[in-house]
Amino acid sequence: MQDTPDLNALPSQEDCIAAVRAWLAERPSQPLAYLHSFGCQLNVADGEKLTGLLQAMGYGLTDDVERASLILYNTCAVRENAEDRVFGTLGSIKHLKARDPGLILCVTGCMTAQESVAEKIRRSYPYVDIVLGSSAVQRLAPMLYAHMHGMRHAWDIQTYTDIPEGVPTVRESSFKAAVPIMYGCNNFCTYCIVPYVRGRERSRAPQDILAEVRGLVRDGYKEIMLLGQNVNSFRGDDQIPDFPALLRAIDQIEGEFWIRFMSSHPKDASPALMDALLECRHVAKHLHLPVQSGSDEILRRMNRRYTTARYLEEIAYLRDRDPDFSITTDLIVGFPDETEADFEATLDIVRRVRYDNMYAFIYSKRTGTKAALLPDGVSDAEKSARMGRLLALQREIAEENNRRFLGRTLTVLVDGTSKKRPGSLTGRSSENMLVEFPGDPALIGQFAEVRIDRTRSGALFGEIV
Ligand code: SAM
Ligand code: SF4
Ligand code: F3S
Repeated sequence: MQDTPDLNALPSQEDCIAAVRAWLAERPSQPLAYLHSFGCQLNVADGEKLTGLLQAMGYGLTDDVERASLILYNTCAVRENAEDRVFGTLGSIKHLKARDPGLILCVTGCMTAQESVAEKIRRSYPYVDIVLGSSAVQRLAPMLYAHMHGMRHAWDIQTYTDIPEGVPTVRESSFKAAVPIMYGCNNFCTYCIVPYVRGRERSRAPQDILAEVRGLVRDGYKEIMLLGQNVNSFRGDDQIPDFPALLRAIDQIEGEFWIRFMSSHPKDASPALMDALLECRHVAKHLHLPVQSGSDEILRRMNRRYTTARYLEEIAYLRDRDPDFSITTDLIVGFPDETEADFEATLDIVRRVRYDNMYAFIYSKRTGTKAALLPDGVSDAEKSARMGRLLALQREIAEENNRRFLGRTLTVLVDGTSKKRPGSLTGRSSENMLVEFPGDPALIGQFAEVRIDRTRSGALFGEIV
């Protein structure tokens, strides 16, 4: 049966890494590990550290799940369909475990931090060997050590609050880097599972962040994405007390790079933040400010702690000073008992702000959250219809907004090749607009100047100048 190893009784992380490494070195060929992170960029950033640890323990890395002798899924619990995808994936690899009983199957992340999910894995997917909760980067090596020393099922689903510093990291990109600046969330928006699975807010030391960014810029990284569930809650020290100060400190670093950040909570978005965005030369011209709803009553029931009037003032402060600044948002459609009038208010705020892009989600009930207890008389069909209306409006606005770029030359960080148009490259402008243009793949990872000659709702098209 599964067991929870007493981590205090196990050797230190370094000793566990060394022991697993020695153990794997006895195998005739290097074993391969497959890791997939679901969910947000913070989870992907955790995944990069888990990959770094696997490599430090002697694993090679593979993108082919069939060749792996260790499979690790780093999961997301934010909506029901995210969880369903993970359960489906676990079901689809059962045959691999049957074929190779030595295969180690490990599940970690936000899903497994919930007791109910761990229980379901116990019951329905008994071939999973290791289950670890979220923020468990430093626990991977001890759990593998425990498993390899006879603990058939190793389980530890608590959420750890220590900040992983100095962990080896294998980054997915050689030119875009995610840098977590804070972990956890204290906001308890009533629909959201994140505070329950990620624990309370804790910030990294400013000097650790600065040292990491300096190293990345030195290594040629062109885009630094500062991450946190609410970066505005970042708390530093006397010299760098808050997020605007951190932006200004990073902005002092010499080099050719952009700073982006995600996410920013409107309740804490201050003029000081907007001033920093406008004044820092490295900060990209894009603010993601999730509004969630345009109805003050729904915002109140979501526990968002701002009104639409206050939100619009924040946008106006920025747009008055730079009308071109790109603004994007997250929206939830169909929060419990959302009325037609509430939804109309959402359409209204979208028309007023004229977002360049949005991530819209149909409300998903999350057991354990306050909203899960609210009555909900709105049918699924009505929610889907509202979603369709919202997306149609956003398409129209984006199409009109994008025309402002016609004839302009934008600096673009080239990030790949176009799947739809062979011979074309893709990239993102400072405003985070998707740009496509013909070019040599050798440019991937570099900045290019692109003159825009055609636009659509989802992308801009042009030629390198
Ligand atoms: N901390 C970020 C913030 O407050 O903006 C959000 C992080 S959350 C991982 C990303 C988005 O998922 C949220 O902005 C919200 O729109 C959406 N979301 C969270 N819980 C949801 C739920 N239960 N149903 C639907 N969408 C949800
Ligand atoms: Fe979830 Fe709200 Fe925290 Fe964002 S701020 S992670 S939506 S609880
Ligand atoms: Fe999902 Fe956890 Fe991120 S729930 S969205 S992976 S913080």
